[in-house]
Amino acid sequence: MPRSEPIKAVRGVRDILPAEMPVWRAAQAGAAAVARRYGYEEIITPIIEHAELIERVGEDTDAVAKELYRFDDRGGRNLALRPEATAGVVRAYFEGALNQGAQPSRLYLFGPMFRYDRPQKGRYRQFYQFNVEAIGSAAPGLDTEVVELAGDWLNEVGLQDLRLELNTIGDGKCRPPYLERLKEYYRPLKSQLGGDSQLRLERNPLRLLDSKVPQEQPFKNGAPKIIDHLCDECAEHWSSVRRLLDAASIEYQLNPYLVRGLDYYTRTVFEFYPGGATGQQDALASGGRYDGLAEAEGWPSTPGVGFAGGLDRVTELIAAAGSELTTSSPADVLVLPDGELAVEAAEVARICRAVRSVAVDYEAKSLRAKMRSANKLGARWVVLISAEDAARRVAQLREMSTGDQVELAWVELPTRLA
Ligand code: HAM
Repeated sequence: MPRSEPIKAVRGVRDILPAEMPVWRAAQAGAAAVARRYGYEEIITPIIEHAELIERVGEDTDAVAKELYRFDDRGGRNLALRPEATAGVVRAYFEGALNQGAQPSRLYLFGPMFRYDRPQKGRYRQFYQFNVEAIGSAAPGLDTEVVELAGDWLNEVGLQDLRLELNTIGDGKCRPPYLERLKEYYRPLKSQLGGDSQLRLERNPLRLLDSKVPQEQPFKNGAPKIIDHLCDECAEHWSSVRRLLDAASIEYQLNPYLVRGLDYYTRTVFEFYPGGATGQQDALASGGRYDGLAEAEGWPSTPGVGFAGGLDRVTELIAAAGSELTTSSPADVLVLPDGELAVEAAEVARICRAVRSVAVDYEAKSLRAKMRSANKLGARWVVLISAEDAARRVAQLREMSTGDQVELAWVELPTRLA
């Protein structure tokens, strides 16, 4: 057989190695703790969904149009790897009869999402989100609640310097006439727009407002702003959300060009960025209200609001901030048997596990080599077992930092290690 190159990870995905786990654990534990403090319950939904469910999120959405991992399974079903979780959580809310329980249903979820995006720092094809959804109520208090929850989470994992951007994008009543105005404004400028924006002009004109193309920036200033064209209900909702944010002393910047990439949003939309960031920067957490999503999926019309935080980006920032989270040794104790004493070593390990994390070195190698392994592992103690010791059910316990060694009966080990 010819030797082939070792097979590497797929482009755009990566491993999260043990050394990175303290930061990941902190980000996730912090998220779960904050979510529970706000009365949210955990849910897990599948990574695969019917492609059609995802398409209902919005066919003009990049995550769906260009970036969806779509495939036919062996039964010929057209499936997708979820690019985001909200569509699936809303589906589960109805299928799991959560709509029959106390409303709103407050849910949080951790998990991987998949987008065939151009890989770069902070942007991966498999990435991880912390999702928060409050489904079953249109109360503006919930818009504020999820914004506050997101901010609390980021603060508590050590990210204090943040910028919160906020906008409203109206609803099914006031947005269509506004979009007509927007199209009217942009049509005469069409030849000066880039290719993507020319396509968006008729299909999804809202996205013209968050175009990053430099030549299109000056046009935004003169574009009509939705905030000036809200219906009464949306205007009232918007003013309540802002009043509640002010009452909570949550600082935000109004960004009339914030429209979000997914099509299902109505009314409030928001994004958290690292503070002080200039230029094009990726959001750490983002979300908004999606009152039309349930209906788009074929369920009874039901309002909802939520956000997702990007764990890849949040953990990168925590790590860059030089947090004090350090990797600890995977095992406090390493059992080092002499020769063929696997049975005895396993028994001693079992005894010590009552009080400590314990690993066993089963390899046949010299004591010196075993000591080197213990150092590499960072074990605090080693337990040496010779055939002679094993026959008497005793072992030598050595403290690695001092080199102090004592002989102990196996049964005494837990007391000494505790
Ligand atoms: P999104 O803005 O598409 O919203 O993604 C939310 C967050 O996921 C982003 O702010 C970012 O931190 C992270 N993220 C997105 N794409 C990538 C990527 N390729 N690599 C790394 N991180 C990424 C949603 O997904 C909505 N479902 C949020 C939501 C929940 N809205 C209402 N409820």
